[in-house]
Amino acid sequence: MRRFAILSLLALVPFVSAVSSQAYTWKNVKIGGGGGFVPGIVFNPSQKGLAYARADIGGAYKLNSDDSWTPLLDFANDTIWDYWGVDALATDPIDPNRLYLATGMYTNSWDPSNGHILISTDQGKTFTPSALPFKVGGNMPGRGMGERLAIDPNSNNILFFGARSGNGLWKSTNFGATWTQVSSLPSTGTYVPDPTDTTGLNSDKIGISWVTFDSTSSSSGKATPRIFVGVANQGSDNIFMSNDAGTSWTALQGTNTSWIPHKGVLSPAEKSLYISTSDGAGPYDGTLGGVYKYNITSGAMINITPVSGSDLYFGFGGVAVDLQKPGTVMVAALNSWWPDGQIFRSLDGGNTWSALWAWESYPTLNRNYAYDDSLAPWIGPDETASDITMQIGWMMESLVIDPFDSNHWLYGTGETIYGGHDLLKWDTTHNVTLKSLADGIEETSIQGLISPPVGPPLLSSVGDVGGFVHTDLTKAPTTEFTNPTWSSSSDLDFAGNTPTMIVRIGTGDSSEGKQVALSYDSGNTWSQDYGAADNIEGGKVALSANGDTVLWLSANGGVLVSQYTSSFTAVPTLPSTATAIASDKKNDSVFYGAAGSGFYLSTDGAKTFSVTKGGLGSSTSPVKIVVHPNITGDVWVSTDKGLFHSTNMGSSFTAIPGVSEAWAIALGAPAEAGGYPSIFAAASIGGVGYFRSDDTGATWVQINDATHGFGSASANVLTADPRIYGRVYIGTNGRGIFYGDKA
Ligand SMILES: *[C@@H]1O[C@H](CO)[C@@H](O)[C@H](O)[C@H]1NC(C)=O
Ligand SMILES: *[C@@H]1O[C@H](CO)[C@@H](O)[C@H](O)[C@H]1NC(C)=O
Ligand SMILES: *[C@@H]1O[C@H](CO)[C@@H](O)[C@H](O)[C@H]1NC(C)=O
Ligand SMILES: *[C@@H]1O[C@H](CO)[C@@H](O)[C@H](O)[C@H]1NC(C)=O
Ligand SMILES: *[C@@H]1O[C@H](CO)[C@@H](O)[C@H](O)[C@H]1NC(C)=O
Ligand SMILES: *[C@@H]1O[C@H](CO)[C@@H](O)[C@H](O)[C@H]1NC(C)=O
Repeated sequence: MRRFAILSLLALVPFVSAVSSQAYTWKNVKIGGGGGFVPGIVFNPSQKGLAYARADIGGAYKLNSDDSWTPLLDFANDTIWDYWGVDALATDPIDPNRLYLATGMYTNSWDPSNGHILISTDQGKTFTPSALPFKVGGNMPGRGMGERLAIDPNSNNILFFGARSGNGLWKSTNFGATWTQVSSLPSTGTYVPDPTDTTGLNSDKIGISWVTFDSTSSSSGKATPRIFVGVANQGSDNIFMSNDAGTSWTALQGTNTSWIPHKGVLSPAEKSLYISTSDGAGPYDGTLGGVYKYNITSGAMINITPVSGSDLYFGFGGVAVDLQKPGTVMVAALNSWWPDGQIFRSLDGGNTWSALWAWESYPTLNRNYAYDDSLAPWIGPDETASDITMQIGWMMESLVIDPFDSNHWLYGTGETIYGGHDLLKWDTTHNVTLKSLADGIEETSIQGLISPPVGPPLLSSVGDVGGFVHTDLTKAPTTEFTNPTWSSSSDLDFAGNTPTMIVRIGTGDSSEGKQVALSYDSGNTWSQDYGAADNIEGGKVALSANGDTVLWLSANGGVLVSQYTSSFTAVPTLPSTATAIASDKKNDSVFYGAAGSGFYLSTDGAKTFSVTKGGLGSSTSPVKIVVHPNITGDVWVSTDKGLFHSTNMGSSFTAIPGVSEAWAIALGAPAEAGGYPSIFAAASIGGVGYFRSDDTGATWVQINDATHGFGSASANVLTADPRIYGRVYIGTNGRGIFYGDKA
């Protein structure tokens, strides 16, 4: 009886009636070209054309025969958002259907969860997670070193994984299902990039950075005895070899231990291990380093660094061997920031090298390649650019040659994957195609989205890229926002009465100047807002209904307002703790703000705000304010305590029943002409998901499904299309922008 009593008590707790779901079709808004760091690319050595790439915040991808990529981890939802941080991948040489991913985003407090090895037996169509007893850092320093996960090429039930944070080397003998620590390895890695970093991001140990089996040291069915391990140590032994399958280890000598080993790549026919090193863990650093070749037969470590003296001003990252042509090896400068990235190729095992570019005489550079960014034209600069700017790339940790095709090569940069299908021309005409080949990889972090009622359907603010006008959702934009160009953009807004007028906010360094720009033609051209002070950046922005007033909740300069591009001035009446602002879409004088449980109204063009009578319940962190496109004072506010609606400028609010927490929200086209806008929310409505209501929040349908999780709900932004009923845009933190339509 008692048990029933408990059950009926639970049933009495006010709870939204089961939310129904509606089938949606989800596609990426095509940005193209990746748009972020690609720390790892791995070809399977046994199945022609099988390759995978991993991203640091955007999951993993499988290569298709037409050079495009298919995402594998789109099921990652709010619970398992950190699957999008992939710190290592391994593809099985014995059973090419098997794929393993080491996932987890951060080893510091930013990610509360321990890591996982995701196990697939169908090339990434489905995964079974194996929980690890420690964290994995797919977006931590040193994420381009590797791979730290490796499958025994003679006995594929055996895997090794090199952990971060001093957790050492781990081994599985049952295809990754369970793991035990290998305590015999004498070092777990002591190097930390910056011990003073109190966030824990740069002060955690990089740990064991790669594991490489010597496939030639055994035969099929017998555990491989010879294993090489690279460890992030600086100034002490950092490359170890076992000849007894990991029972005992010896340190390899002959490298400069001030340099950390980034890669250890076996050339089986040469019975040699190629090693790249750098004086930092990457991915942004490196001012010195070397390339070494370890002759397994003789035990000699030979220095084969391609450059020396003043030509050596970088460390080394990616290393590739051509399995079809033993002795052909390539190595990438990890970061050669000027005049461009650099890649070297040798046909004689590293005795002599040629480079992807060389000075003719300053300032003329001979670029031994044809540049092709046709799949992502915004990536530029294109080859006609007269200035010497980065084309080849930076953060070049992953460099691979297709084991079945000596002409096919790929490498990851901080922004894309480059490669081509004519690599052998390097050795004849010494001129290859360098093409952005990241079609299908969408790994940007979206900060803001708007869908104005006129002009292009979508404009975006994007981290590390700046942002775009998305005229055609299915085509990569030809250009990012330029003039001004900022490395990142944090938000944008349009004017309700004159929606071709748009404001955007930049986030850059001080060299990027004033970080507010205005457009009068739907984002095609921009002018800097000279009312902005230097070095104020980031945050959120609202443009008044007629477009004359910009309210700016800046990241580092407080709340500011400017009319007619005059100097921005402080708005002390909106608390500095405000986390959301918005403009009315009809009345040019009306702005809104929210801080804690307080809702704030301005009726004088954001000069002054006052708190309204209607509060936001027990909210402590409002997320977003959206305003009815046609009705002044009809506002919605999402907070950590739910979703709130006011029809009277905040004089009173109704808490929407059943919504316990809400993040991004948006108003879209009504279901019926003349009706109230449909409402979209990333929210907890009996569970975290993405929802739409066509009846002012009375009932909701869930619009995402088990294969579309969109990662961390709180990190995402939403906008809805005012012209197409049902269409919503979800900007993710690492998987670009999705648009969804009723199926
Ligand atoms: C070893 O690395 C250190 C630190 O980068 C450097 O100063 C030294 O010159 C290197 N030694 C050799 C022999 O290259
Ligand atoms: C490795 O050393 C052995 C013994 O000195 C030699 O015969 C072999 O050619 C070397 N291998 C390579 C790839 O240099
Ligand atoms: C390589 O080919 C491209 C495209 O034809 C050309 O622009 C470039 O100048 C060539 N490089 C050299 C060094 O001749
Ligand atoms: C805009 O709002 C202000 C303040 O409520 C009001 O005084 C003014 O009349 C409104 N303007 C229009 C055009 O409705
Ligand atoms: C807002 O007004 C415009 C112009 O009258 C109309 O086309 C649009 O459908 C209205 N939108 C909503 C959501 O009522
Ligand atoms: C997220 O996905 C996992 C695994 O499929 C599932 O167990 C969990 O319930 C989902 N969480 C949410 C919030 O949908």
